[in-house]
Amino acid sequence: MTVPSQVPSYQFPDGFVWGVATASAQIEGASTEDGKGESVWDRFATLPDKIKEGTNPSVACDHYHRFAADSDLIRDLSLGAYRLSVAWPRVVPDGDGAINPKGLEFYDRLIDGLLDRGVTPWVTLFHWDLPQALEDKGGWTSRATVGAYARYAEIVVKRLGDRVKHWFTMNEIPCFIGYGYGSGYFAPGRRESAKVVNQAYHHAILAHGEGVGVVRAFGQPGSQVGLVHNHLPPPPIPFIETAETIAAAKVEYERTNSQLMGPIFQGKYGDVFLNAAGADAPVVQTGDLEIISRPTDFLGLNIYAGDFVRARPDGSAELLPFPKQYPHGDLPWLRVTPEVLYWGIRLAQEVFGVKAFHITENGAAFDDTVTADGEIIDTDRREYIRNHLISVHRAIAEGYDVRGYFLWTLMDNWEWAEGFTKRFGIVRTDYETQARIPKLSARWFSEVARQNRVV
Ligand code: NOJ
Repeated sequence: MTVPSQVPSYQFPDGFVWGVATASAQIEGASTEDGKGESVWDRFATLPDKIKEGTNPSVACDHYHRFAADSDLIRDLSLGAYRLSVAWPRVVPDGDGAINPKGLEFYDRLIDGLLDRGVTPWVTLFHWDLPQALEDKGGWTSRATVGAYARYAEIVVKRLGDRVKHWFTMNEIPCFIGYGYGSGYFAPGRRESAKVVNQAYHHAILAHGEGVGVVRAFGQPGSQVGLVHNHLPPPPIPFIETAETIAAAKVEYERTNSQLMGPIFQGKYGDVFLNAAGADAPVVQTGDLEIISRPTDFLGLNIYAGDFVRARPDGSAELLPFPKQYPHGDLPWLRVTPEVLYWGIRLAQEVFGVKAFHITENGAAFDDTVTADGEIIDTDRREYIRNHLISVHRAIAEGYDVRGYFLWTLMDNWEWAEGFTKRFGIVRTDYETQARIPKLSARWFSEVARQNRVV
């Protein structure tokens, strides 16, 4: 018997980016301080029964006042990168009017503090906290919001672009449009027709293209920019790796992503989407598709779960039931399917020609227990992340250009409609005292980053 000569060491390439991700509305708090305007999430949280336990983002992790200590934490965990978002209503309180100098000063301090600590900021321009004043004028269903976004992006890039080199235009269009304007589960809580929702999607991808243009025009030379996308429904995972199952997964991936990835990466709405949308397809003005498909430097993917599929005789994909006895995290959609990271990357490349990737979010909420000694021994979260990283490693080993991994999230925070009930952090937030308590997974992830391999 021959013993394999090489045991995988799960080493990542030199220069691989290890970081954590957060979003302004989920951590900052200070929701009315220093001139910040109201966001759609501030407003949504005032409505009955929209947020679990009726909480709101007004204090959250109080990061607005504690950003220095939080930045220390990132440095102390040996993480070289931090994905954060800028709150639009903090910078332009009513969305398209006067600039709030104090808002920009906050981000100056935050960025400077990160750089002083050797942490590279990766900035998302829009992570769902639309100024309520813009929503009052139609929000993403109105084309005027695209212009307001482009102006806001220009303000931020001109101000921070001397120090920030890595940008994301926006986060998870399927969530803030689909849930915000379709199902009403997210702010602003509207339930519009398919026609209106598709138009809102179109405005969001157009705004993404405008954001790319802003970074190219006003960012420092060599700046990088891309979208943060999420798949909704989650990516299909071929249950058996055969040519026919993989082909079926591709058909399914194209069907469920062509509305966004078609225009962005292929410069057109594909037939798969247009045929399904019929009369509900969006109005596209001359020049829109050129803006939307401006070349980006990478695609950010937020991936948490996948769906197993097999091939039907007609070549389409049949969704298999998730195994009853297999684990999921503290949310029903958080099914543990680590190979989805590999397939999410591979399908994006093979179906839409995406060439370079960052994993911009991956992580899990679990119902953590604090021991009598005050420790959080979150072996479940560690197992979740570790297995997903092995799947990223497979993608890299097969030649896919994956450049970074941002774990969601630094610390437990305000999980949108779930309020404070779901804990995704590798650091526990004690909401009574605002103490930050690193969980065991933080110690482990820190070692992964230090050694640049899955330990
Ligand atoms: C996606 C979102 O970008 C983030 O804001 C959210 O908290 C996580 N996923 C977990 O649901």
